Amino acid sequence: MDKLRITGGKPLEGEVRVSGAKNAALPIMCAALLADKPLALSNVPQLTDISTAVKLLGQMGVAVERHADGRMTLDAKKITNRVAPYELVKTMRASVLVLGPLLARFGEARVSLPGGCAIGSRPVDQHIKGLQAMGAAITIEHGYMNARAERLRGTRIVMDMVTVTGTENLMMAAALAEGSTVLENAAREPEVVDLANCLVAMGACIEGAGTDVIRIEGVSSLSGTEHQVMPDRIETGTFLAAAAAAGGAIRLSGAAPESLDATLEKLRQAGAKIATGKDSIDLEMSGRPAAVSVRTAPYPGFATDMQAQLMALATVASGTAEITETIFENRMMHALELQRLGADITIHGTTAVVKGVRKLQGATVMATDLRASAGLVIAGLVAQGETLVDRIYHLDRGYEALERKFGALGARIERVH
Ligand code: UD1
Repeated sequence: MDKLRITGGKPLEGEVRVSGAKNAALPIMCAALLADKPLALSNVPQLTDISTAVKLLGQMGVAVERHADGRMTLDAKKITNRVAPYELVKTMRASVLVLGPLLARFGEARVSLPGGCAIGSRPVDQHIKGLQAMGAAITIEHGYMNARAERLRGTRIVMDMVTVTGTENLMMAAALAEGSTVLENAAREPEVVDLANCLVAMGACIEGAGTDVIRIEGVSSLSGTEHQVMPDRIETGTFLAAAAAAGGAIRLSGAAPESLDATLEKLRQAGAKIATGKDSIDLEMSGRPAAVSVRTAPYPGFATDMQAQLMALATVASGTAEITETIFENRMMHALELQRLGADITIHGTTAVVKGVRKLQGATVMATDLRASAGLVIAGLVAQGETLVDRIYHLDRGYEALERKFGALGARIERVH
């Protein structure tokens, strides 16, 4: 299994280009199922989660052409199989995003229940409840959701909690439903907006994406289009948090600064000097960061996917930070690994109290999930001596060429096989 070897203590200097957003590319790839004409995408990141989605759609009959430069064409003209099997859903929960599109276009879908997850229980009851409200009959048998509907009917759906993929699944289903659908308490994440923009270009009628009420007027068919996937705000935030922790001056190009307000605000409070351009962000940091407390929340609040990275920053800050997780019940595993590097962290329920120490020391640590791994890499970059991050297949799911990009910023980091 691959590991990352990091020799810490070097400030970051230079420029890297942000990749396309994983969490926008995945739902948009599934949207290809809604049309019988090709969907041509650009800025699709090279990640294992994207390969899993290619496999998932491919076994359904979608013809996928993937290019090294981030272009991808998906043609769902002939669908031979409407099943998302357990083997793929268990490796990537976002596979559940095929449920809405398959049901809306073909009137049936069989999708494995995702089951447990390292960061919490993550049920899909809101996806099911919404589709049932639109007239689908859904039964759970042998670990699979079996869904049927003659044609989905638009309706008003109030979601019990803000769910990103839940909103995306229902928005895709509603795009081909009969009549109008109103999604209330919808997720406002920029990735939801990117998906809506792509659907509109395919011929859908959607208003309000980016607010908590989305109105969709169903149409009878959708067509193909070209769409450029938005920049990855979590990858962007990860590099910024790394430079805020390690010090130095970096520029991120190809970014979407407006999608990062909450993160930029926290990094400024930590002492970073940040300047934003239309599609670039410059960050300069000298001296020790100040402790900043964060509480995760749905967008536009502070992203749960940035929590581990901010915790890593807090470990070397001056002062004490409280990091509170409100989205997932078990997303503090990285705290225990950070302690192995010498961090002073105590956990009280869903809050980590982090007392900044002057120095971390390199050690072997184990990645537990995608963003936890990013936090460990940041800690490795500031720790004295060598840190080995084990189980980096988690990182490969969501970060494109992470060691190459950090290497370009002068970090001493290499992949060992
Ligand atoms: C998406 C992101 C993930 C991010 C998360 C929260 C993708 C592919 N993944 O995950 O990176 O960490 O948003 O910003 O976009 N919930 C239910 N019932 C449901 C659905 C959700 O109880 O039917 C709960 C979840 O357990 C969780 C909360 O709602 O506590 C938010 O989850 P959700 O927004 O659905 O996360 P994902 O869409 O899976």
